[in-house]
Amino acid sequence: MKTIAFLYNVRHHYPDPKDLRNQLEADFDDPITNKHQIKHLRNCGYRVIPIEANEKAYYKLYRLKDEIDLVFNIAEGLHGLDRESHLPAILEMLQIPYTGGGPLTEGLILNKVRTKEILLLNHIPTPPYQLLKTESESVGIKLDFPLIVKPLAQGSSAGITNKSVVYHKKELRNQTKKIISIFKQPALVEPFLTGREFSIAMLGNPPMVLPIIESDHSILPKKYLPLDSLEVKWYFEEKTEGCDYLTCPAELNGKLKSKLKEMSLHIWEALDIQDWCRIDIRCDEKENPYVLEVNSPPGILPPEISSTSYFPLACRKIGIDYKEMLKSVVAAAWKRYHHK
Ligand SMILES: Nc1ncnc2c1ncn2[C@@H]1O[C@H](COP(=O)(O)OP(=O)(O)OP(=O)(O)O)[C@@H](O)[C@H]1O
Ligand SMILES: [Mg+2]
Repeated sequence: MKTIAFLYNVRHHYPDPKDLRNQLEADFDDPITNKHQIKHLRNCGYRVIPIEANEKAYYKLYRLKDEIDLVFNIAEGLHGLDRESHLPAILEMLQIPYTGGGPLTEGLILNKVRTKEILLLNHIPTPPYQLLKTESESVGIKLDFPLIVKPLAQGSSAGITNKSVVYHKKELRNQTKKIISIFKQPALVEPFLTGREFSIAMLGNPPMVLPIIESDHSILPKKYLPLDSLEVKWYFEEKTEGCDYLTCPAELNGKLKSKLKEMSLHIWEALDIQDWCRIDIRCDEKENPYVLEVNSPPGILPPEISSTSYFPLACRKIGIDYKEMLKSVVAAAWKRYHHK
């Protein structure tokens, strides 16, 4: 029987669109979510050692390293802009095999600008951008309003609300100031694209592209702007169980479908992703796709908690249930270490 150490971070507050401070832990999971994830891993037939990825995790991993066959890593890391690279770096040092990308890839992927730089070098389209380190910096003439202001290195729509879309300089300054002071990181500014939006889950090495998810912003009630904001992801989607809002597989013509697939495979290579990821893409009005960001590890809320968690949803569409999904991620990583 394989011994799997499950590495995770714990959220203490449910994200609140009105309180940016309450969004700092949005990337982490509630204790009840972790409980179900551990149960599902055990149901796969593994011996599971849960380890919270806090400051003490190093000691636990060090002490248990000879017992652990593989780490199932969904930790996002606790401190600093490079936090997602911390656990993979520790695991490299201890020579413990683990799921997902290495420290360089994980650090890069959390940082939306570093990701964009690599994408641009590889001629993969991503929206133009500017990084603002202070609220008084002005944006270049190449960026036209409306713009969207996002934290540089967060996930789960933390800091991304209706207020993130700004229409003039004063709003831009206010939102930039908020992001910098609450998240203690620069603000990323991009043109606000209003075309179709897709999320593309990938699994395995080489990866298979899972059925593409589309979010239909046109059905959102008026109070929500057309984007996957914190309000939409954490309140609207969860309450409506994604009925009608998420389409999977998305209805795509052959040309767009192959373009999205080709882009995703190119991104996987360019960023050196391993085992699994989810890529967010939004189009302009002419249906030209642009990469917004890459999620690795992707969120995997269990069915007891959510029916709209994107990665498990895409898996279900090809008959891979939650348990099989966990097994497939383990198998992908296992193969990398044991069948070179
Ligand atoms: N440039 C943009 N133009 C239009 N919409 C955007 C843009 N950037 C972000 N969005 C919207 O905001 C949402 C969240 O942005 P993004 O994916 O960058 O954040 P995230 O917090 O890392 O997301 P995740 O929940 O996938 O981790 C997107 O799904 C999209 O709807
Ligand atoms: Mg996203």
